[in-house]
Amino acid sequence: MRELTTISQLHLHAGQSVWIGCWLNGKRSSGKIQFLQLRDGTGYIQGVVVKSEVVEASWEAAKTLTQESSLYVRGIVREEPRSPSGYELTVEEIEIIQVTQDYPITPKEHGVDYLMDRRHLWLRAPKQRAILVIRAEIIRAIQAFFDERGFTLVDPPILTPSSCEGTTNLFHTKYFDEDAYLTQSGQLYMEAAAMALGKVYSFGPTFRAEKSKTRRHLIEFWMIEPEMAFVDHEENLRVQEQFIAYVVQRVLSNCRLELETIGRDVSKLEAIQAPFPRITYDEAIRLLQEQGQEIQWGEDFGAPHETAIAATYDRPVFITHYPASFKAFYMKPDPTRPEVVLCADMIAPEGYGEIIGGSQRIDDPELLAERFSEHELSVEAYQWYLDLRQYGTVPHSGFGLGLERTVAWICGLDHVRETIAFPRMLYRLYP
Ligand code: 4AD
Ligand code: MG
Repeated sequence: MRELTTISQLHLHAGQSVWIGCWLNGKRSSGKIQFLQLRDGTGYIQGVVVKSEVVEASWEAAKTLTQESSLYVRGIVREEPRSPSGYELTVEEIEIIQVTQDYPITPKEHGVDYLMDRRHLWLRAPKQRAILVIRAEIIRAIQAFFDERGFTLVDPPILTPSSCEGTTNLFHTKYFDEDAYLTQSGQLYMEAAAMALGKVYSFGPTFRAEKSKTRRHLIEFWMIEPEMAFVDHEENLRVQEQFIAYVVQRVLSNCRLELETIGRDVSKLEAIQAPFPRITYDEAIRLLQEQGQEIQWGEDFGAPHETAIAATYDRPVFITHYPASFKAFYMKPDPTRPEVVLCADMIAPEGYGEIIGGSQRIDDPELLAERFSEHELSVEAYQWYLDLRQYGTVPHSGFGLGLERTVAWICGLDHVRETIAFPRMLYRLYP
């Protein structure tokens, strides 16, 4: 193979002749000049083919190129202040790999179902590429945040014998002669890891067989789950707000071009600075009732409630101290008011809903045993988890961030389906 340069590296080769491997995005022609819009995954560049300056074969090759044709181009890198990248390629030679026929995604508007059926090709669109680049930067920022603060990355299992977040939405599978489930959350395992390593985090896929067809729900999504020994509810919230502010600032610093490609209003992101506002569940209920919404103390919030609460803030808001009655069995009750728990959901601004769920965990063995019988959980199946409260129990807290909802919010997207390369949704397993 010949030595190739990437479009993102062209600035290092100004004035030089280089080869790139690329696809044709689009083409314009004005008689003696053809303008090729080229992309190679790392960026975009215009290739200028002047009839009088190339051999006949290259001129003719350029003429046959169609959208998404693949090719090698040799050209001289020229500074071009009018181009978004600052450069242009004066084409010297073209070698076609394939002339594509009838590429199904044309510059005209297509419906979402049409595009989702062709997700494997839709990924090539500039907006889709930009989202995946931002997603990758968000993941790097997440890992950097925890790595720099002394957390150890631990991978919980994906096949599990029991549930973490309740049994209604588990994916069942056989594990030889036993029953197994795809993990809904690695939390319980991360609690064990925190007792071994102090501060830990996991990053991996989680699965929920939720019959929800909303713009916030995926069947398979990626979660970041930190768990911290000797950390209480208050400190848990401080870590979360610093974490989210850090991730947003990293994207603002490193993904300017991509944010511009997707048309994100960056002033909204610039406002994301810690500390974040906090309101209790009680206050949130009062706020909603004052707005005339039909909701009573003891009921969980739906998406419209969350949106209404978040609407008064320019940054994420914590809703804390939910009733124990509808929250997970492992959440620690508030010692001054045991009917509510030391938990918080972080609600993103602009209507993106809950991006984090977290809590201080029950550390008292007797209380945990009580919760087990109330929730009719099998002591046998969870003996290992109960062991953690027998052998050196300590106060500890943690949380889970949903990656796709975070990407949707940071990118300002209408729907989580565009936040992951191949989304798994209620009615979609293809491609
Ligand atoms: O609030 P959840 O269910 O919390 C847990 O699973 C805890 N065990 C986490 C922990 O404390 N370690 O889920 C956490 C986050 C939600 O806030 C949301 O962002 C995301 O995961 N999430 C989903 N994202 C996309 N599609 C779904 N179906 C999701 N369900 C939850
Ligand atoms: Mg939740």
